[in-house]
Amino acid sequence: MQEQIKNINTLEELQALYASVFGKNGTMTARLKQMRDLDNDARAALNQENTTLRELFKTRQTEIENAVMMAALAGQKLDVSLNPMPENRGTIHPLTQSFKEVVSIFESLGYTLMTGPEIEDDWHNFTALNTPMHHPARDMQDTFFLPNGNVLRTQTSAVQVRALEKHGAPIKMFAVGQCYRKELDATHSAMFGQIEGLHIDTIDKGINLSDMLATMRTFASRYFNKDDIELRIRPSYFPFTEPSIEIDMKFGGKWMELLCGGMVHPNVLKNCGVDPNKYQGFAFGFGWARLVMIKYGLNDIRAFTDSDVRWLKSAGF
Ligand code: DAH
Repeated sequence: MQEQIKNINTLEELQALYASVFGKNGTMTARLKQMRDLDNDARAALNQENTTLRELFKTRQTEIENAVMMAALAGQKLDVSLNPMPENRGTIHPLTQSFKEVVSIFESLGYTLMTGPEIEDDWHNFTALNTPMHHPARDMQDTFFLPNGNVLRTQTSAVQVRALEKHGAPIKMFAVGQCYRKELDATHSAMFGQIEGLHIDTIDKGINLSDMLATMRTFASRYFNKDDIELRIRPSYFPFTEPSIEIDMKFGGKWMELLCGGMVHPNVLKNCGVDPNKYQGFAFGFGWARLVMIKYGLNDIRAFTDSDVRWLKSAGF
């Protein structure tokens, strides 16, 4: 019997043999039923035989199961020389990346990051910025009005008003945030980010436009990772600065508009409770996405909010 068990190679045959020994009509079952007719020695011998046989079946069952598993594994051998599946890794959105860079550059220049609400009142978005009701400059910005007269902030310049009202002068602050205007094409988006900066100090410090240019040159050099920054300035108009300028930067042989700004208009300081006879300084505003578009040579601002991973990949993010 022991030899017979060892020679079996399938679980089915083993089970059949097991049943013929230990099943209801099995040979061992029958012998165990006659146990009471045996003397003590014969009983002990039968018990021993019973235990040994059961163990043999168990051992053989494990051996066959292992052999079946090994055969299955051999059939499924992995080919480790195959190229791995491409790994899709998430990246940080380009605007968020640039936000971190901008913050670290302006903070290193001594500016403090400040914030304001995206739903603004007329005072902070327009009137305090020397743009009273019916001022023609209001038409420069296609404003979204809310029923209660508030607006979706059209410019982060509103944050400079809040900062001046709250902290007074001297002040060196910047803000990065979303603004809203009713315009939409390849270079304009109804929601767009702006970066605003403000540096005001006492008149004896003599802050002037050259300081602003130097600050912008330092900023551009760090942000674009470039030593030879070429800037040019053009006269412009904003109600909240006088004089007002736009600054272009030469990039890949082409002049690109980089930012706007100027010396803060005395009326703005006055509106915010700062005495223009004692303080002066400059303010500036950038298009946030524009910075990223210039840096990476992108041309459609709408892609930033389309959530298309293919665009992110093709743009190298
Ligand atoms: N707020 C202006 C705009 O949206 C940009 C700007 C211009 C901001 C001049 C300034 C500034 O702080 O001084 O077009």
